[in-house]
Amino acid sequence: MDGNRRPKPVIVGSTPIEGTISESSVHSRDRSFDFSNVDPLFWNRSEFACRLLNSLSLMFPVGEKHFIQAVRSWIHMAPSDLLKDIEVFFRQEARHSREHAKFNRLLLMNGVGVSQVEAETIKKLAQFYLQDDQLISTVVLEEITGLGAKLLPYLERWLLSGDEAVAEMWRWHALEEKEHVHVARSLLKYCGISKRRFIKVGFKTVVMFVKQLKYNWNEVKLAEDAQLH
Ligand SMILES: [Fe+2]
Ligand SMILES: [Fe+2]
Repeated sequence: MDGNRRPKPVIVGSTPIEGTISESSVHSRDRSFDFSNVDPLFWNRSEFACRLLNSLSLMFPVGEKHFIQAVRSWIHMAPSDLLKDIEVFFRQEARHSREHAKFNRLLLMNGVGVSQVEAETIKKLAQFYLQDDQLISTVVLEEITGLGAKLLPYLERWLLSGDEAVAEMWRWHALEEKEHVHVARSLLKYCGISKRRFIKVGFKTVVMFVKQLKYNWNEVKLAEDAQLH
């Protein structure tokens, strides 16, 4: 082989990366769920669990786009052994968004203000417009989803007691979140962001997440009430 020949760039999304990508321990499973028989506002026997998971589902398409953009904007800092996991991370998050958007369309058809929720999420995430802050907010939100994914098996009998297609989507999403939770955190180590900045923006991210969850919760409850009365 010609020693001077450089390896071809590998394309991750629209971002060319110099080098080659080896096997990853993270796997993207292209699952698709049939929600045709789902009553999206009342798919769970637990009213609380149903509203909580629906409120979270409303966040994912916008949130996961933010995560992909944040990691993509720092990808040039990633060591070669992290690139393989980043590539799968992009694929996993894009597929999660696709399935949640499909479920969220059902919520929209059942009276949930999905456009308002998404506009509000975009507005809140816009405060993290600096490149550093985008990555910090991504790391913190990934840690929150990763923690939720780790807890899911212990809470499954309560959280997923209902329609099997929706329950299976959450199991699939949780499994892949557990696999890729390290990606943004590992990338952060190579980006030279100060600890002080991380704490400040990390705190703002947690506050934003709680406020958005509350906003979504109220939107879902309004739609439930409209159907019940
Ligand atoms: Fe995800
Ligand atoms: Fe994630």
